[in-house]
Amino acid sequence: MFIMNLMETKTNKIKVLNIVGARPNFMKIAPIHRLMQASKKIEPVLLHTGQHYDQKMSKVFFDDLEMPEPQIYLGIGSGSHAEQTGKIMMELEKVMLELQPDLILVVGDVNSTLAASLVASKLHIPVAHVEAGLRSFDRSMPEEINRIVTDSVADMLFVTEESGEQNLLSEGVSKDKIFFVGNVMIDSLLHFQKKARNSKILQQLNLERRSYALVTLHRPSNVDSPESMAKILRAFEKIEKKIKIVFPIHPRTKKMIEQLDLGKRINLNQNFIMVDPLGYLDFLCLMENATFLLTDSGGIQEETTVLGIPCITMRENTERPVTVDKGTNVIVGMDTEKIIAESFKILSGTFKKGQIPPLWDGNTAERIVDLILDS
Ligand code: UD1
Repeated sequence: MFIMNLMETKTNKIKVLNIVGARPNFMKIAPIHRLMQASKKIEPVLLHTGQHYDQKMSKVFFDDLEMPEPQIYLGIGSGSHAEQTGKIMMELEKVMLELQPDLILVVGDVNSTLAASLVASKLHIPVAHVEAGLRSFDRSMPEEINRIVTDSVADMLFVTEESGEQNLLSEGVSKDKIFFVGNVMIDSLLHFQKKARNSKILQQLNLERRSYALVTLHRPSNVDSPESMAKILRAFEKIEKKIKIVFPIHPRTKKMIEQLDLGKRINLNQNFIMVDPLGYLDFLCLMENATFLLTDSGGIQEETTVLGIPCITMRENTERPVTVDKGTNVIVGMDTEKIIAESFKILSGTFKKGQIPPLWDGNTAERIVDLILDS
C-alpha cells in the first residue's frame, strides 16, 4: 500500500474520499474530482484500489483524463471475487480509520465499489453512490450484486436515468436520498471529445472514418464460455465479409482466447484487426468514427447514445434501458443470427435513430458537488 503524506492535514473543508478501482470508474470520477479540487469547501482524496493495474487498463486513463496520481494506492490486483473484495475491504478499513473522511464517494458497479461501500457504512461514514439504481434484474452478473448491495447501504444515491429512480423507490429507498443528476461519464465524453479528435489512432490502424465496426467483449458470461464465444465469433465471420472489425481486446478475453485456442481462427481474416486495450482518447476517437459498435459493455451503450452511433449489445439484458428506449442501442443476446441481422440493418441504412436522454448534458459532476455541499 502506498499513502501520500496526508494524514496530518486538518482543515475545515469536507474531506471526501473518492474511490476508484477498475477501468470504467476512471472516466466517472475524473470530472467530480476535478471540481472538488477547485472547490474551497471540499478536500478530495483520490484512492485507487489497484483492482486494475496494467498500464493499459489504468495508468493511461489517469493521463488521458488529466487526473492527478492517486494519493492512496492499495495495489490489490486480481483474484476471485471474495478474495479481491475481501482484500480491498481489509486495506480500506485501515485507511478510513486513519483518514476519517466525512464522506466516501464510489462510482459504478465493480468489486471496488462494493468493498468500499461496505467498509464505510460499517464505520458509520456516509456513502455517496454515483450511477445508483441501475438494474439488469440478472443476479448471475457480479455487477448486479454489487449494485444492489451498494445502493442498500448508500446515503446519497445519484441516478443517471429515470429507471434508476423507479428501481430504488420500489426497493424501498427513501425518496430524499435519491437525486436524478444525469450521467457523469458523459461529462468526460463531452469534455474530452475535442482532444480525442487529435488522436492518431485511425492513421495508426489504417482506417477510414465510418469504414469499420468496433468491438468490445469481456463479460464473463460471454467470454468464459466456449459456446458463447463460438456463437459470437460465427457472427463476426459473417460481418467481417462486409466491413472491417476492430477489436481492442480486454485481458480477460485474451486469456480465454488463448486457453480455447481460438487465436488462429480469429487471425485468419485481414478484415479482423485485433489490438491491445486502448486509452480513453484513442477509444473515444475510434468510437466517434465507427460505423457501429458491437459490445457487451455497460458504459459504451451510453456513450454511443450520446454520439448517435448505432450500438448492438451482445447481452441478454441491460441495466441502462434508456439507451434502448431513447438511444441508439439494441439488445441481441448471444444470438448469432440477431447479431448479423442488426449489423446488416445498419449497413443498409435502416437502423433506428436516437435521442439524448435528459440531463446527459456535461454538467452532472457540478450537480453532484453542489448536492454534496448542500447536504
Ligand atoms: C471488471 C468489472 C466489470 C467491468 C470491467 C471493465 C467487477 C466484478 N467487474 O471486470 O464490471 O466492466 O472490470 O474492465 O468488478 N487483468 C489484467 N490486468 C488488469 C486487470 C485485470 O490482466 O489490469 C486480468 C486478470 O487476469 C484478471 C482478469 O483480467 O483476473 C479480470 O479482472 P477483474 O478485475 O477481476 O475483472 P474484469 O473482468 O476486468
